[in-house]
Parts: sequence; C-alpha cells; structure tokens
Amino acid sequence: MLSNGQSETNATDLAYHLHSQTNPQALSRDGACVIVKGDGPHVIDENGKRYIDAMAGLWCAALGFNNQRLGKAAAAQYQDLGFYHSFYGRTNPKAASLSRKLVELTGMKDGRTFFVTSGSEANETMVKLAWLYHASRGKPTKRKVIARDRAFHGSTIVASSMCGLEMMHREFGLPLSGFIHTLCPNNYRVRLPGESEAEFVARLAAELERLILSEGPDSIAAFIAEPVIAGGGILPPPQGYFEAVQKVLAKYDILCLDDEVVCGFGRTGNWFGRDTVGMVPDMMSLAKGITSSYFPVAAVVVSPKIVAAVESYNAGGTAFGHGFTNAAHPVGAAVASETIAIYEELDIVANARKMGPILREKLEVATKDSPIVGDVRGVGLMYGVELVEDRATGLAFSPSRTIGARLADKAYENGLVVRAMRDTIGFCPPLIIDESHVDEIVGKLSIALAETEKAIKAKSI
Ligand SMILES: Cc1ncc(COP(=O)(O)O)c(C=O)c1O
Repeated sequence: MLSNGQSETNATDLAYHLHSQTNPQALSRDGACVIVKGDGPHVIDENGKRYIDAMAGLWCAALGFNNQRLGKAAAAQYQDLGFYHSFYGRTNPKAASLSRKLVELTGMKDGRTFFVTSGSEANETMVKLAWLYHASRGKPTKRKVIARDRAFHGSTIVASSMCGLEMMHREFGLPLSGFIHTLCPNNYRVRLPGESEAEFVARLAAELERLILSEGPDSIAAFIAEPVIAGGGILPPPQGYFEAVQKVLAKYDILCLDDEVVCGFGRTGNWFGRDTVGMVPDMMSLAKGITSSYFPVAAVVVSPKIVAAVESYNAGGTAFGHGFTNAAHPVGAAVASETIAIYEELDIVANARKMGPILREKLEVATKDSPIVGDVRGVGLMYGVELVEDRATGLAFSPSRTIGARLADKAYENGLVVRAMRDTIGFCPPLIIDESHVDEIVGKLSIALAETEKAIKAKSI
C-alpha cells in the first residue's frame, strides 16, 4: 500500500495502462478495481472483497474464473509444442482436431474452420470471405454489408463499422462507407403500439428490402447479425424474424453472417444461437465461450460454398491471402478442446436451459413492483432488465441521468457485477451457476434496485 492509500498495482496501472471502454477522468479519480483471484463464478479483488460476476467477465467465462483443468491442458501442451502457425500449409494435431470438432458441433456440413484470435478478427474475416465469394462468382461489386442498429460486432475498423452504436464510431470517423444499418428487432422499443409480433416482423423484413433496393442489390455482399443481440441491450428477436429476413437475403443473393461470439457454446440454451432463433447462416464467427476466454482463440466456420470460392479463386497456384500469426495456436486449440470436453461432460447446454427460466422468474418476481422496471427479457442464460422513468408508458430516463450505470455501480458496491447498456441491466452469468448463485445475483440486484429507487425519489440522481 502506498502512502496515498493506493495499492502499488493501482498506482502502476494508473500511470501506464490505457484502458478499454473506460472514462479516463473517472479512472484517475476512482482508480481501477484490481481483481486477483477467481472462485467459480466469483472474483475477489485486492482488498479481499468478493463479487459474483453475473456478466461472466465480458460474456465469456462460461466455466467461471479458476477452472483448473484448462490450466492443466495448457501446461501439458506447452510441454510438447508451445507455438506453431498455420501459414504455408502447417498445422498441429490440436488445431486439426479442433477444426473438425467445430464443424461437427456447428452442423456446418462439409464446411471448414478458419482460426483467428478474437471475435473482431472473426467478423472481419467473414466480411473478407463474403467479398471473395462474390468476386469469385463474377460479382465484384457486391461489397456493402448490412448490420442492425444497436449491433455490436467488435472493435477493429470493419467490425466497429458494423456496430450500430454511436460510442463505437464517435472518436474515429466511422463507420466506413459501405457499412449500413437497418432496424433493430427490438420488441420493447421499436415495435409499435398495437403492432402484433407478426406485423412487426413483416415491417422489419420490408424495411430491410427497402434498404437493399435503395442501395442497389448488386452492391450488397452480406447481412450480419447476432442471433440474440447482446451488447446492444439483450434483445431476442421476435418470432419468425430470421425466417423472414433470410427470404429477403436469398432473393437478392446476399450472404448471412452469424455472429455467435456471445451466443455460441450454450449461452442461449442451445449449442449455438442460430438454433434458438432459426437462422441458417453461410458463416459463423466463434470466440469467447470457445475457451471460456482462458486463451484468445476465435474461429470462423464456413459453409462449403465459401470453401469452394477460396479454392476456385486460387486454382492457379496463388495462396489465400489472409491469416494471423497466433491463429490455430496449439496451446489455444488444446484449451478450446478441453473447454468443449468439459461443456459436454457437464452438459452445460442443459444447465443453461435449467437455470435460465429460474433466473428469469426470480428477476421478474424481484422487479414486479418496481416503478422503474419496464421490461425483463432474454433467453437461455442471458437476460436484460430495462429501467424506465414511467413503467406504464415505458418512457425512458433522460440519457444524461445515466440511471443504468448508477444502478450497476450500486450493484458493484454490493458485490454484484452486472453491465449497464444504456438503461438496460445485463445478466450473462457463467454457465456453471446453480440456484444458490441465482439467489445471490437476484438478492444483490434487489438491494441495488431499492437503493436506486430511493436515490431517484430523493432526487439525488
Ligand atoms: C457479439 C460480439 N461480436 C464480436 C465481439 C468482439 O470480440 P472481441 O472483443 O474478441 O474482438 C464481441 C465482444 O464483446 C461481441 O459481443
């Protein structure tokens, strides 16, 4: 501890570490929270304070924060081969078997796996492959990509451009041209009063078609979507949404790119979100849950027509001109294979299906009398609780009041990690949780909610 009360880690961090998604002034005022230990779904900070992390870190640590088997799998692989790459036809046994496992698990029959090291790289890779695919069929003008408002697809330049969030564009002059957005399938905010779910879906599909026609179908390469929007506010699509959207895409020869970075590996109560929402994609991006984020592994699983395009484009002897040094890393592949083996042994998908409805019900019961909770929604083990100024009308709080962030701060003080997405509070806990963890999450949320309501009433926030 330094004389000003700061720990040495905190002082060093403040002096040298530029943080992601953090307000610099708040960081220098409050210091960072130094996490030193994991214990299942809990983390412990440098002062010994314990938190239940109801966000699995960043929607990723499905096995919690100290699974010993993953460390052992990494250590064993480091003994044999600590690194090798996948350029120039090289591979390693762990990457080869993982590539097969991912094709089998995703059901992408006769497809292939391309390895990368982050969700953003995976999504960028899908865009490059979509360009290559259309060019290989004599349609090189098909380059634009349609994403949705409120989408999050990552932080590299193309991935940020596909985000439908102003915070990902503001400082950087993004989006790049050619990355456009259509309506968000948000049942609570975008569906009109009196509009049935079927009418809402028809309107979303019609709006997509209108956008395609106004941009020119010959200019559009792909549509990208998460099965269930995560970072944009936990938004499961209305019933029949992807079926309607995919009819429009097929009509105009537009590829469907499935961002499974959050939804993959059990999160929605199926192995992949596509199965929860009835999506039939041409490519899928995988990250986070693939190793429970114990190693930076990510992948794109592609359908046979994409494989055929890469092959035909390079039939003259050229090489596929894309790749990353640390992709198909033998240690990462060993950790991923072990993670998936643990998911299968624990039947993690079944646990998400069992715990999800329990979490939902307890959230509903805990918030049913709150004057500031407008909506509780979600699927599998991902839920959102939207805070509103007026429960009856759904009137939103003014964004400048940052009510969601204030509730998240109060939760944090009470030992609960949640995420505020505007005024929606997100819950995406490790998939290993049991009912006692659900009770802890909901109990701590109730305290934070009551404190927030009190502060609003007292006009102190
Ligand atoms: C849906 C989705 N796609 C892509 C990404 C980007 O992944 P990464 O941070 O590994 O680049 C994220 C990150 O949170 C995400 O939520």
